[in-house]
Amino acid sequence: MKPINVGLLGIGTVGGGTWTVLNRNAEEITRRAGRPIQITMVADKNLELAKQVTGGKARVTDDAFAVVADPEVDIVVELIGGYGVAKELVLKAIENGKHVVTANKALLAVHGNEIFAAAQKKGVMVAFEAAVAGGIPIIKALREGLTANRIQWIAGIINGTTNFILSEMRDKGLSFDTVLKEAQRLGYAEADPTFDVEGVDAAHKLTIMSAIAFGIPMQFDKAHIEGISKLEAEDIKYAEQLGYRIKLLGITKRRSEGFELRVHPTLVPTKRLIANVEGAMNAVLVQGDAVGATLYYGKGAGAEPTASAVIADLVDVTRMATSDPENRVPHLAFQPDAVKDTPVLPMAEVKTSYYLRLRVEDKPGVLADITRILADQQISIDAMIQREPAEGEEQTDIIILTHETKEKNVDGAIAKIEALPVVKRKVIRLRLENLDK
Ligand code: NDP
Ligand code: HSE
Repeated sequence: MKPINVGLLGIGTVGGGTWTVLNRNAEEITRRAGRPIQITMVADKNLELAKQVTGGKARVTDDAFAVVADPEVDIVVELIGGYGVAKELVLKAIENGKHVVTANKALLAVHGNEIFAAAQKKGVMVAFEAAVAGGIPIIKALREGLTANRIQWIAGIINGTTNFILSEMRDKGLSFDTVLKEAQRLGYAEADPTFDVEGVDAAHKLTIMSAIAFGIPMQFDKAHIEGISKLEAEDIKYAEQLGYRIKLLGITKRRSEGFELRVHPTLVPTKRLIANVEGAMNAVLVQGDAVGATLYYGKGAGAEPTASAVIADLVDVTRMATSDPENRVPHLAFQPDAVKDTPVLPMAEVKTSYYLRLRVEDKPGVLADITRILADQQISIDAMIQREPAEGEEQTDIIILTHETKEKNVDGAIAKIEALPVVKRKVIRLRLENLDK
């Protein structure tokens, strides 16, 4: 059968992996797709790299626009990254009637609404399995496997770099900078690693999942984002003593008033499977009303794991290319005219439990003042520990775990607690999720 022709934009980590896996597994992939999938044209700024990887088996160019304009190309695979030229290329490819496969979560989270609308109008597909959690088929699971469910919440470790940093710092006592350099060397980190460390990359992926899970537009600008750069080693230690592990979680929840959309370091009970996801591995926990909790685990980054998802999209697009656009799986799971503009809730309205660490003077009455403030704000305490002060030390740490409450109650309590003269530094506040219902 006539092969489907692919134009590849960017032959770096993921592009290189895609080339390798597509060639290595060509025979099986053809049997699955129903026709051969061949990369006929490659664009990369680094022409030498492109020539070296392709070994003369594809046309190479440093002009990516030549690929999206080439009449022989059926599917454009965008693996350049970023919101700049990648956006122009994707829109141009769509305009030229080409299907698009991309791993670019930043692009989709920020410009996805525009891109999907353009694709819908033109009747072409935009597939993006690799954009969330690398090799884990979570998009397929949310869009198709769980289609019977009213999704209640999703909680995911969706950034390998930060999970790798947290694991290596805890287990090997390595410094933040050393581990980040290693993540960059292994190809996990984004071109701008602050996207990883500050939670932006996780928020991009969460935005995409929330749109698919709930049938709402991409609303990255409404996401609350906190990374791991301000996390202190003491809190990791206290959390362990209390039976929790700190993970950078992306959480999106359905509430009657709207949706929560947030990324922040989160205490998770150590006994939960997701708390034991270590290194660069990713995991996404999805709670559906019919199925209950399902957990998806695997490599969220790296050349071949991500290529695995890119090629799955290539096979899907190849299989669907001949079907009528109205009968394809919708880009964002819900039919385009059924997407609802339900609000994303402001952080003050988010409901969760909290870990609070207070540095206080070690003298009578301090605890009573603090618990009174918490009670006044309708915050109920779940557990508490006080560090034994060292000989001669006049200050100590009090760690409080709360039951579920609204963020605005905690904001109010923290402001009042910090105003007490016996409180010696800003309160450390981390959020805690039991992930049990
Ligand atoms: P790389 O930087 O390794 O590869 C990108 C390639 O594109 C580089 O070779 C780069 O060349 C080339 N390039 C840049 N600008 C242009 C241009 N205008 N025209 C042609 N080529 C260009 O990135 P990754 O492979 O790591 O990431 C690609 C995408 O996949 C990103 O969107 C990323 O977020 C996403 N992703 C990455 C994962 C990973 O594990 N790495 C996992 C999941 C998603 P040069 O280096 O010379 O600039
Ligand atoms: N920088 C990302 C990560 C790559 O560390 O998870 C995969 O999207």
